[in-house]
Amino acid sequence: MSTDTINITLKVWRQERPGDKGRFETIPVSGVDSHMSFLEMLDTVNEKLILEGKDPIAFDNDCREGICGTCGCVVDGIPHGPNKAMTLCQLHMRKFADGDVIAVEPWRARAFKVVKDLMVDRSPLDKIIQAGGYVSVNTGSAPDANAIPIPMEVAEKAMDAAACIGCGACVATCPNASAMLFVSAKVSQLALLPQGRPEAAQRALSMVATMDALAFGNCTNHKACEAVCPKEVSIVNIARLNREFFKAGVASDAEVHLNPALVPETEKRAKPTAGAPKAPKSSKPVAKSTSGGMVLTGSIYILTFLFVLGFIWQSLASFL
Ligand code: SF4
Ligand code: FES
Repeated sequence: MSTDTINITLKVWRQERPGDKGRFETIPVSGVDSHMSFLEMLDTVNEKLILEGKDPIAFDNDCREGICGTCGCVVDGIPHGPNKAMTLCQLHMRKFADGDVIAVEPWRARAFKVVKDLMVDRSPLDKIIQAGGYVSVNTGSAPDANAIPIPMEVAEKAMDAAACIGCGACVATCPNASAMLFVSAKVSQLALLPQGRPEAAQRALSMVATMDALAFGNCTNHKACEAVCPKEVSIVNIARLNREFFKAGVASDAEVHLNPALVPETEKRAKPTAGAPKAPKSSKPVAKSTSGGMVLTGSIYILTFLFVLGFIWQSLASFL
């Protein structure tokens, strides 16, 4: 049983504005109620800072119920803190012990720039959704809910993918700052259902191209995203995204729709590091994505190599 109040020391990231160097500030906090949520603890710290005439700590939050995906920062090196399958707003101070030193930082990712302190700009995720995370419907009365029967197993998989709240923890924890888990969840929730099939090819190509253009990295199967996802979105969805992307590239004439407005923003944002996707140089929509394109190009090279090897082997065998 935990004690009712604890004393802790916060090491909080403070950064005035985007582009500033930033620093950790040490703030001793005494008499923290163990039953407070982490965000309530930050609220009390802010009240004290304001009374002292200091700048309160900026952090994002809204529903405080694990629904909206607005909250999020890295606590002791783990996005959303030490509890599995839980958002930061659901984390409680009883998880910490008296005397703990707690490090609190914003999401760190090339595509998310720090706005202030613990707040980051997660609008790149919105831009990926704008590229194809929807179904186009004609206006008119709502169709009967039972008009298209969907097997329970398929509906469950689509619902599991749809649990993604767009918090960005998967990006923050990935060593490549990849948004593949997020994109795969959004592609899967529609691709699995008949309503999402007509636009499936264009959706996969456009969302992956937009993800690349916004300087998110590529997936190299670390699985860190799945480990920290508060909604336990499975990396099985990434395999589905790869299949959808491959099908779209090989067996469809779907075009990539990339908002040209993204290009100048990409060039400002991205300082590509080794192995990172490069921002497109022209303002024209790009026809190929980088990460998905890599998968596709790699697959074609391997298949061509195997084909040539088989041909040589057959030719040699006919001589011997
Ligand atoms: S996949 Fe999980 S971690 Fe990533 S944005 Fe969605 S809910 Fe957050
Ligand atoms: S504030 Fe909405 S999920 Fe945390």
